[in-house]
Amino acid sequence: MQRLDARLMACAGYLQPDKRVADVGCDHGKLTAYLAQNGFSVIATDINQKPLDTARKTCQSANCSELVSLRLGDGLSPLSPMEAQQIVIAGVSPDTMFHIIDSAPWLQTQGVRLVLCPATRLPQLRKGLCLRGFEIVDETPVVAAGRCYSVLCAEYTGNSFEPSEQFCLIGKTAGKPFAKELRDDTARKMQKQLRGLQGTAQEQQAWQLLEWLKNVQV
Ligand SMILES: C[S@@+](CC[C@H](N)C(=O)[O-])C[C@H]1O[C@@H](n2cnc3c(N)ncnc32)[C@H](O)[C@@H]1O
Repeated sequence: MQRLDARLMACAGYLQPDKRVADVGCDHGKLTAYLAQNGFSVIATDINQKPLDTARKTCQSANCSELVSLRLGDGLSPLSPMEAQQIVIAGVSPDTMFHIIDSAPWLQTQGVRLVLCPATRLPQLRKGLCLRGFEIVDETPVVAAGRCYSVLCAEYTGNSFEPSEQFCLIGKTAGKPFAKELRDDTARKMQKQLRGLQGTAQEQQAWQLLEWLKNVQV
């Protein structure tokens, strides 16, 4: 069986085998191969040819190519609307994720699931999902290769709202394994950013928020 890091394993945990998956930005193809070995039908896309070639080799070595369609292109553009009902995007920034999500309005359909693991700026991802009417149904904090991540499972409800700054910082991680590690990592990153705010009107409010984050029970 294809081995996965904790991030991609958590992504797989949110997927159901009876619905087709799109692995967007598949790169090495490890998640694609793992899912296909477990009976999932997978459309794997990448914007670059080289990673797509690597993914093809990974799937050939894993003997699961018949369940995989590899497609070159930006985000979900190589798919027709609703061709996959579960969309995984991992290892890219929230900006790239929103570019992909906003370019595929058919994701705003009940029953379509987004499984997202950003490489950076998790609070921005949580905020953008809420503003776009996607409910964050669940989250799994993970540590992989010594770095903290969270995998978000989101579905469209159409209920768009501006979430609190506190929610953006911790999301739905409370009570989960690695929630404290993720909280402390988020606090460290925030502290670094605050140095750039020195002397601005937002500075005091941001320090208060950081104090809240450092002390909140998760
Ligand atoms: C760091 S790799 C992540 C690979 C894998 N998803 C993971 O998390 O381990 C990012 C991949 O996303 C691809 N990528 C970046 N922007 C993309 C886009 N707009 N559409 C499709 N693929 C994209 C890159 O070519 C690269 O192969």
